[in-house]
Amino acid sequence: MTVKRVGIVGSGIMGSGIAEVAAKSGHEVVLRSRRQETADSMVAGLEKSLAKQVEKGKLADEERQATVGRVTVTSDLGELRECDLVIESIVEDLSAKKHLFNELDRICAEHTILATNTSTLPVIELAMDTGRPQRVCGIHFFNPAPVMSLVEIVRPLTADDDTIAEARAFAEACGKTPVEVKDQAGFVVNALLFPYLNNAVRLLEQGVASKEDIDTAMKGGCGFPMGPLALLDLVGLDTSLAILEALYEEFKEPNYSPVPLLRRMVSAELLGRKSGRGFYDYHR
Ligand code: CAA
Repeated sequence: MTVKRVGIVGSGIMGSGIAEVAAKSGHEVVLRSRRQETADSMVAGLEKSLAKQVEKGKLADEERQATVGRVTVTSDLGELRECDLVIESIVEDLSAKKHLFNELDRICAEHTILATNTSTLPVIELAMDTGRPQRVCGIHFFNPAPVMSLVEIVRPLTADDDTIAEARAFAEACGKTPVEVKDQAGFVVNALLFPYLNNAVRLLEQGVASKEDIDTAMKGGCGFPMGPLALLDLVGLDTSLAILEALYEEFKEPNYSPVPLLRRMVSAELLGRKSGRGFYDYHR
């Protein structure tokens, strides 16, 4: 079965980015946010992002209009009923996600694939909260979703081959490169990336170098597009802390244990770009 109509639940950075990618590649998109105002502001954000691409000459104006025309917003979960695929991208909280999957299972058509964009939580726990564990998988996009080419397709023990093949085909139709990964915390990218990010905070905490020099070192020394502290600000320090905690919970490896400075910054609401300040100040 080919995915034509995609539901997206959650209005954060990832939900908006995935909506943009899916609509641009020709899918009908239904965006659901708990509050109508948030859903409306997502569309405003999408329109702004597409307008920027038109300005840069990367997108034709007709294509921009067609993309916007493919997106509808709603605060009613019931409107996801006819979707071929629903991607959940809400807060990284297992009980909130389980509750949502249970509701989606009751609402959505029998053929609908229920997917999560979680970066670390066990997909199997969500699958088992539905009456269709064979139609549940992870479809993990990276931030910023419109730019990053990778999508991890996460196969819980219960998923059938058709579900995984359809999820892969959807990622490809979005112009992304899928890789299939086992359902364990961090999958491939975050299992490798987050010990590195955590240790960058440790170096800063130990006073080994300034934040600017740590970032300059990794850009210049490893050819990374941005340094680790700037990347933590992009991902969000609260999200990063949740990812490290989930990794530590699963493997009990010291490298996954969040360093104290990261925790303190989250307590201080220094969350990165989303709050205007993290390691760097974004107000200026
Ligand atoms: N939406 C759409 N387009 C965007 C964008 C966004 N949010 N951010 C940047 N772009 C586009 C820009 O328009 C620009 O396009 P053109 O060159 O065609 O004009 C291009 O991306 C490059 O952007 P900039 O010139 O502004 O800046 P840059 O060259 O420094 O690139 C970056 C920005 C793409 C973010 C780059 O620094 C990068 O790749 N950083 C690493 C990001 C990364 O590692 N992401 C993974 C995070 S981990 C994760 O997501 C997993 C998880 O579960 C938490």
